[in-house]
Amino acid sequence: MRIHTTLIALASFGVAASANAEGPDFEKEIWPFVKNSCVKCHQPEHKDERGRSRRPKGDLVITNKEAFLKGGEDGAVIVAGKPEESPFLDRTKLPLDHDDHMPPEGKADQWTDAQKELFAAWVKAGADFGAWTRDAEVDIQGE
Ligand code: HEC
Repeated sequence: MRIHTTLIALASFGVAASANAEGPDFEKEIWPFVKNSCVKCHQPEHKDERGRSRRPKGDLVITNKEAFLKGGEDGAVIVAGKPEESPFLDRTKLPLDHDDHMPPEGKADQWTDAQKELFAAWVKAGADFGAWTRDAEVDIQGE
């Protein structure tokens, strides 16, 4: 009887703990390094400083929530709850000289291990964008 009660107590503690676990805040903790390393090539079509049209690479736009969730030419890049199935994270973990590695070597700052872990924690907690939704706050950068 005593063991039984302990098990129930442990089980309900587990449920409470996971329900309370909040992931990192997207806008404050994730967006700054995503923007720094990835927006340059994954923003809406625009003209560069020489007036040439620049399309988002891989058809992936990440400057607003809707487009980010839609993903690129190969489909979704974030699978809520599943960091290991989310190409947006996975590609940053490939060897630097792998063709699919992001960002391409030498083209933008690489994510640090701490940033990869933070991104994984955010996806695991449900990939909640919070109040962050739109393009208005993004300055389009040249290439
Ligand atoms: C210098 C340009 C450049 C930067 C910076 C860059 N990418 Fe890319 N990205 C590309 C190109 C080119 C492709 C298309 C070719 C490919 O799929 O590898 C692509 C494709 C992708 C795709 C696949 C989209 C699809 O559905 O096919 C993902 C995911 C991705 N990038 C993630 C990232 C992440 C994460 C970062 C930042 C850490 C980043 N990219 C930064 C150039 C860039």
